[in-house]
Amino acid sequence: MKTKKLYLETYGCQMNFSDSEIVVSILEKEGYEITTDPSEADLMLVNTCSIRDNAEQRVWNRLRELKSFRKKNPALRIGVLGCMAERLKQQLMEEEKAVDLIAGPDAYRDLPDLIADAGDGRKTANVLLSAEETYAEISPVRYDSNGVSAFISIMRGCENFCAYCVVPFTRGKERSREPETIVKEAQDLFEQGYREVTLLGQNVNSYRWLQENVVPVDFPALLAKVAMVSPLLRVRFATSHPKDLSDELLHTMARHPNICDSIHLPVQSGSSRILKLMNRKYTREWYMDRILAIKKILPGCGLSTDIITGFCSETEDDHRETLSMMEWAGYDYAFMFKYSERPGTLAAKKLSDDVSDDIKSRRLQEIIDLQQKLSHKSNQRDIGNIFEVLVEGFSRKSNDYLSGRNSQNKVIVFPANGAKPGNYQQVRVTDCTSATLIGETVKSNV
Ligand code: 5AD
Ligand code: SF4
Repeated sequence: MKTKKLYLETYGCQMNFSDSEIVVSILEKEGYEITTDPSEADLMLVNTCSIRDNAEQRVWNRLRELKSFRKKNPALRIGVLGCMAERLKQQLMEEEKAVDLIAGPDAYRDLPDLIADAGDGRKTANVLLSAEETYAEISPVRYDSNGVSAFISIMRGCENFCAYCVVPFTRGKERSREPETIVKEAQDLFEQGYREVTLLGQNVNSYRWLQENVVPVDFPALLAKVAMVSPLLRVRFATSHPKDLSDELLHTMARHPNICDSIHLPVQSGSSRILKLMNRKYTREWYMDRILAIKKILPGCGLSTDIITGFCSETEDDHRETLSMMEWAGYDYAFMFKYSERPGTLAAKKLSDDVSDDIKSRRLQEIIDLQQKLSHKSNQRDIGNIFEVLVEGFSRKSNDYLSGRNSQNKVIVFPANGAKPGNYQQVRVTDCTSATLIGETVKSNV
């Protein structure tokens, strides 16, 4: 059978990249082979993100470009997957001539049928959301992997309804995946040579597997099960919601040295008033208490966050509270965004997007400048310390250097010494930039 070529582009969060691995798995069974060359594609799929307006604009522009490949290959099929498919099905059906098929995040099992029925002017779509779908038994194809670290999706959907966020609408109800299938996937990856897994979900720490007559498995319990696959397998997770960050989770992390000391804990704003409007379900003080618990139970734990600036009615005082929270927490890293109103969300319905774009830009710049300083300070504190680094490959800039991460999730580069991806190395930090630690091996475990 002639293999058909699939060209796949993914935008957005890690969850989307993980979903693309499921899509490839489903389509490999249909005889598709992945290609990185769009001009040889029989099928093009774009897995899309709706989180901010600019994420959607990028995809609209890209669809316009991809459409041109059809001139050379009239049989080419183009599909839109993911959050934009879910949110904008109608518009994609009616206005975008380039698109043949549309599949939402819970409809990927239906792709073979959608592809078969689409084309020659016929469009097909499935954007049904499911309360159960977790793709539990599908083995993701890690088509774009370094062979060392992999993502494992452990739950889908979100029901927190933060006022700014489109995810509950595009990804549907929160549901957890059966723990045995997660542990099995981690075991398989370890046997294939992987040495790091990141457990993924929109809100991982509310993971909960409940079955009649079976002891419930919550997130700390799941984390422990995965950590026990092998002491040589590093375990990470993203993203946590502060409201569900329990001491029990922190103690579980402390008990297992292979659960990495790194927590991504989106704060979004440092102002309790804004947090309330955002429907985040915690206050500034409550968040600070969680950070103190992390610092006490996991000293030296890496800490990163997400921040939105310019949310509805945000004042200069609110903004200063965000800056002071950043200083106080001393984040190692942050993802920082201007608020972008999303249609259908609580904020779009009830609040006014009343902070001007100029003010949003200026506040964002202040936040970025501060974070740059904090990241640099945090890296300087590491100079002289020795870390265990999991080697991922050569550094991006030069094959004379290897690159990997420490448990705290910081990138460390050091002179190549024959160590291979997947090896652990003891590295002393000798220098740094605001983005990277630079070091030398003190003991090679090769
Ligand atoms: N505007 C700007 N940023 C947003 N995020 C989510 N929704 C929006 C929005 N409407 C940010 C949050 C979230 C991260 C994934 O994206 O900080 O944690
Ligand atoms: Fe984007 Fe959110 Fe969808 Fe991920 S879940 S692709 S961040 S809208």
